[in-house]
Amino acid sequence: MAEASFKRMISTLLRQTRPQSFRNGKPPRYPQRQLSTAANAAARPLTPDIPQWQAHTVEPSPTPGNDHQTVTKQHRLDELRNEKEPRQFSSFLIDNFSREHNYLRISITERCNLRCLYCMPEEGIQLSPSSHLLTSPEIVYLSELFVNQGVNKIRLTGGEPTVRKDIVDLMHQIGKLRNNGLKELCITTNGISLHRKLDSMVESGLTGVNLSLDTLDPYQFQIMTRRNGHEAVMKSINRILEMNKLGAGIKLKINCVVMRGLNEREIVPFVELGRDQDLEVRFIEYMPFDGNKWSEKKMLSFGEMLALIRQKYPHVEKVQDHKNDTSKTYQVPGFAGRIGFITSMTHNFCGTCNRLRITSDGNLKVCLFGNAEVSLRDILRESNDGKPLDTEAMEAIRQLEMDRRQQVTGSTGTLGVSEKEARLLDVIGMAVKRKEEKHAGIGDLENMKNRPMILIGG
Ligand code: 5AD
Ligand code: SF4
Repeated sequence: MAEASFKRMISTLLRQTRPQSFRNGKPPRYPQRQLSTAANAAARPLTPDIPQWQAHTVEPSPTPGNDHQTVTKQHRLDELRNEKEPRQFSSFLIDNFSREHNYLRISITERCNLRCLYCMPEEGIQLSPSSHLLTSPEIVYLSELFVNQGVNKIRLTGGEPTVRKDIVDLMHQIGKLRNNGLKELCITTNGISLHRKLDSMVESGLTGVNLSLDTLDPYQFQIMTRRNGHEAVMKSINRILEMNKLGAGIKLKINCVVMRGLNEREIVPFVELGRDQDLEVRFIEYMPFDGNKWSEKKMLSFGEMLALIRQKYPHVEKVQDHKNDTSKTYQVPGFAGRIGFITSMTHNFCGTCNRLRITSDGNLKVCLFGNAEVSLRDILRESNDGKPLDTEAMEAIRQLEMDRRQQVTGSTGTLGVSEKEARLLDVIGMAVKRKEEKHAGIGDLENMKNRPMILIGG
């Protein structure tokens, strides 16, 4: 069974990657625990009812007298992505370099249940007061606004998005925007509690998971994240693979930030995860953000990582990147999976950038590495005395907008945009037009003021 072989593979990789001092005895400082693997994490039994996310797997039941019925399996993701009629793209989302921004990343929390070395200080970061953060109705309103202008992919990030209590409901509401043209709904997560919510998320329209995992070794995991949880992450990966076998079509990418002296010896074992599994491991160059103690010495460049892989797999080859991909994609011939490199520090990929970001406190950020931000939250809340909009307040606003439109046009339709939408679009359009052609180089990035990564959103 594939699951058992995945377990064997992880165990072998763990043996190979654990430092010599760990291999033959107990690790010096950390409690000894059973190795956590995808397989010793109990697989969730499948319910006899077919979940909604499997509805796209069409398996006609045999009819009497017809033993040779073909079984057609339609890939859920392909179906979701299928463009029925191409939409016109709004000029508000096109910048001065003709880049169409059809991908929106929304940070839905500043909190996280890990403390990764490269992301934040041990003591955590100063969190914003909750009244500064976007409410769910505000997030849905903004998502709809962007999707109506041409955004077809939304990614929920954080912090760690799964710590937001209403994430499944939020996803459900954003998922409904498929009717307005949304094609992909993704999440970037550390995987700690994903396995508990994954099924409902997929039912709500989740199509892609970027999962952060920097080590296959539970002890090294504690060092790099300052927390326990390796086993839970493996359980999440396992559940995704299991659901994919049943036709869920979740696009899985594993993000691995490589730091010299910490996990570079794991690059090859990570590549080997893709020997039989259809997944993509993306190696990320360590980037400087406020408070993460970045130094060039700790960063492994794309070139160094590729050279390391070539020592064992000299025939690793470049394969076609997707349009707008920020990573350079490679494959070891014969492997099911692929590998990618996110080379923000050594080669920028700004030329094809199609992303916009909204921070948890409602600022639009047109570049991950730029400090220019505009507040969408403040415009949203103008008619509510600057106070957060809950479902009721948002409904009242929508109703008011509809009544006004009706007075002006005499129609009950929702054509055209309201005053609030027009104000938001103006501000968004101006911010997009101010987007720089490319971000600063390695020397400048190091000294540039920016939020910590956790406050920008992965
Ligand atoms: N350098 C590179 N990648 C980072 N991430 C967070 N901080 C850094 C950093 N300093 C990535 C992690 C995670 C995502 C949320 O952001 O890999 O997958
Ligand atoms: Fe949390 Fe992700 Fe930052 Fe790690 S990188 S501390 S998982 S937000």
